[in-house]
Parts: sequence; C-alpha cells; structure tokens
Amino acid sequence: MKDKKFYITTPIYYTNWVPHIGHAYSSLVADVIARYKRIDGFDVKFSTWVDENSQKALLKAQDLWMNIVDYLDMMATKHQAVWDWLNISYTDFIRTTEPRHHKFVQEVIQKTFEAWFIKKGNYEWLYCIGCESFKKVEDLNTDWLCPDHLTKPEIIKEENYFFELSKFQEKLEKFYEENPNFTIPNNRFNEMKTFLKEWLEDFSISRNKKLFGIPFPIDKEQVTYVWYDALFNYLTVCKYPVKSGLSISPDLDMDFWPADLHVVGKEIARFHVIYWPAMLEAAGYEKPKNVLVTGFITVDWQKIWKSLGNAIDPVEFSAKYSRDLMLLYLLTAFPIWNDWDFSEEQAVFMYNAKLANNLGNLLNRFLVLSLKIWGKIQWKIDDKISYNISQLTSWYDSIRMNSYDLKQTLDKVFLFWDILNKYLDDTKPWNLKDESQLEELINILYTLWEWLRIMAICLYPFFYDKMWELLNRIWLNYWDLEKCDLNFNELFNKTETFTIKEKWEALYPRI
Ligand code: MSP
Repeated sequence: MKDKKFYITTPIYYTNWVPHIGHAYSSLVADVIARYKRIDGFDVKFSTWVDENSQKALLKAQDLWMNIVDYLDMMATKHQAVWDWLNISYTDFIRTTEPRHHKFVQEVIQKTFEAWFIKKGNYEWLYCIGCESFKKVEDLNTDWLCPDHLTKPEIIKEENYFFELSKFQEKLEKFYEENPNFTIPNNRFNEMKTFLKEWLEDFSISRNKKLFGIPFPIDKEQVTYVWYDALFNYLTVCKYPVKSGLSISPDLDMDFWPADLHVVGKEIARFHVIYWPAMLEAAGYEKPKNVLVTGFITVDWQKIWKSLGNAIDPVEFSAKYSRDLMLLYLLTAFPIWNDWDFSEEQAVFMYNAKLANNLGNLLNRFLVLSLKIWGKIQWKIDDKISYNISQLTSWYDSIRMNSYDLKQTLDKVFLFWDILNKYLDDTKPWNLKDESQLEELINILYTLWEWLRIMAICLYPFFYDKMWELLNRIWLNYWDLEKCDLNFNELFNKTETFTIKEKWEALYPRI
C-alpha cells in the first residue's frame, strides 16, 4: 500500500446514447492524469461509468419497447466496451442502479435531513429532460425552447423536497477564497463565481411522480432527483467499493476521500463547483480538492446530436487511425478552456507533423548512429545539453502536469524534440568518421539516448503503448515505471550496452 493517494473521477455518463467523441474527451483527460500520477508513485483510484436514474434513459427504453432494466444492462455493457477499447485505466466502475449506491444515497439524504438542510416546498418550474435540469424563463431561447436541446421544457407543479442551497452562499464564497485553484481553468472558475454572486436558490431534490429512480428515504412516495443521486456516486465508490464480487464493504476506500480531481465538461461545472461542495458540507463530508473543467467539441460548428448524425464515434475513429492520434489531437489542438470544432483533417495533419515526422526524424537519426557502434561503453552526457534536460524534468513534474495543463506539457516536450534535432544539425555526428573522433561521437549518441529516455517517460501517460515500446528499444525495460516516482536522476550516468543491430520499424508510420 502506498502512502501517496490520488483519487480521480470522470463524470458518470447518461445511457440514452453510447459515448461519442465529447464523452471520450473527458475520459481521456482523466486517464492521462491517472497514468501520470501512477508513475509519480501514487496509489490511484480512478472511477467512472454510468448515470442511470434519468428520465431520458427511461424514455429511450420506452421508444425501443424495452424493459428499463434490460435496456440499462445493455447500455452499461456498451459503455464499458468503449472505455475498455480506449484502454481507460479505471479502477472503479459504478452504475447508479446498484444496491450499494441506493443504500448510500438514502443514508446521506437522511443525514442531510436530520441536519436541517432539506425542507418541503411547492415546486413550480420548467424542467428540461435533455439537461435533466430545471430552467428559468430567462434560460430559454426566443421560441421558449431549451437552447441546448431545442425542446420545450415540461411544466411541473407539485409538492416535493428542497435542498437549502441558499444557506451556503457565504460558506461557498469563503471556500472559494481559501481555495483559489479549486476550479481549473480560471475562466470557468470566474463564471462560477459570477453565478454565485447573482443567484443561489434552494433546489428541488425529489419528484412526486412515481418516476424511475432512488426512493426518497424521508417520503417513500417520492424519488430522488437524478443529479442529487448522481453526484454522490463519487463517494459511493469510496464508502462501498466493490473490490470482490458484489459484497458491500463499508468505508474500505474512505482514505481516498476527499477526491483529488473531478474532470467535468463546462455545462455541468455548476453542479460540481456550486451544488456539490454544498451538498457535501450538508451531509458532513469534506469537499473535493479540484474540479477540472473541459470545453465543448462541436462538429461543423453544431452541437453533437445523434439525430443530426454528426456524432464522431471514438471507437471507429481510433480504429481508423489510432488512440494516440485521437488523444494528440484532443489534447493539443486547443487549450482546455476553449471550445473546438472537430476536424479529422487537422487531426491527421498534427499526427504527421508531430509524431510521424518530428519524433520519427529524431529516432531515425538515433538509429543510424547507433547502428554504427555498439558494445559496452561508459557514456558521458554532453554538458551543453544536460541543463536543458534538468529544466525539462523539473518543469514537467512540478509545474505543468501537477496543474493539469496537458496541452502545455505536450507542447513543451515537443519543443524539446526541436531542440534536439537542432543539436544534431549543429554537432553533425554523421561527419565524425575518424577513429580519433569516436569518443565525441559516443557522447553525442549518449546525450541523444538520455533525452529520448526522458522524453519517453514524460510522454508515457499520454502514449503509454508506443512510449513503452520506445523505452524497450533503448533498453529501459528494466525500469519499473510505476515504482520510479518519476525520479529522473536515477537514469543518469549509467553504464549501458548498445545492442541495436537491426533497423526498426517506424514507431509512428506516416498517414
Ligand atoms: N450524467 C451527467 C454527469 C453526472 S456526473 C455526477 C452528464 N452526463 S453526459 O453523458 O451528458 O455528459 C458527460 C460528460 O461528457 C460531461 O462532462 C460533458 O461535458 C461531456 N460532454 C458531452 N458532450 C460533449 C461535447 N460535445 N464536448 C465535450 N464534452 C462533452 O452530464
């Protein structure tokens, strides 16, 4: 058991669809961070899967003339297959119809009620099933439709239970002040702060109709509002983790709480940045450490819609090209605080430029030189460039990856390839043909080698498969990445044996 613990989550996905590229974006961001934390010596808990108690899933099942339970089973399997295909390195899976989640949600509602944060009231509101969220008139477009789903909201009038969010206005303001990096990036945090200043009203957390959902423990005639149940999934997996079969083992993973990071899309930031900390405080739990908010991907500048047929399937796309191409594009084409219009052409272009050409060129040069000399040699790094290496490693670890700036991290590592290609252009090792120049040649080669190893480790959380292959090609396979705690110094000044005797296949073939 490691003492350094890290708990990361993706949103749990609605199951009226199979995941599209926008959903894959959330899961890939979380996956890269989880993999990075693992090589940085953390015991990582990574949780994901499906949000099932929604009205839209129920409507979809009815459309298909399917029994809701069968429908949800089918969709949960489909979702899991997508995450497995994409090799999302989750450790915990949760379906919100599981008995452990029902049990936990009912416990927290009871606790919140006893702490006087739940009251009965009259609910008269507009509700958008697409958003699974209530709306105000000013949220609608000029045709009185939900601007995101272009559907008419339901008008709901009933007596039900409210969570007293208004009691948390000042507490939240104070919490934000004390935790200035609670929400990343800054533009999203500012949006939330503005929202907090303007409007914090109590919100309904139960529904009077006998809908599909978790029975509301203090009034069995009602069911729990889907968002109120869904957010608690993050805690259910700590409180009742399924470590073996379906046994419910209380508190087993509570030492992972509070969560280190929730990765969420911008349209659900409000639920995670405003409601969630208040709900936790009301139920007597600590608040999460960070929320990372991602932007929105559009296709042909339109929202992704099944009915428009513009959804990009991440499985098909990565099968056509590769996971690495898809990830490179999603994480480097645009910063996390932006929205972006998806372009296949641009994705291929970036892959060819960065992975096939830039890295490919470097590896080829390394290979050609290595084929010339092998044997047991004491290597020495070229001082001219060792400074850049230590700069890269300290920067990588302490600055960018730990502030979850994945684009900057990748851009920076790619920049170092350029520096290295330039180093070769300057030193021209291919001209060192004389016996007396052997030592110089070896030093250049060693320097190159050292760099490649370090960059392969920096890129491992992103492109784990190919980087592992690269590390194997340059003999680092003895190094246990998950135990190294990113101690790059371990790597320096070792006596190594060169064994490259044959040409390699290109690591990233051009498309
Ligand atoms: N079930 C809720 C989340 C509950 S978490 C306690 C939900 N589900 S969702 O399936 O609609 O969306 C899941 C995630 O996918 C969200 O973070 C959302 O922002 C993200 N995306 C869905 N479409 C997207 C794009 N087109 N682009 C980028 N991300 C988007 O909300």
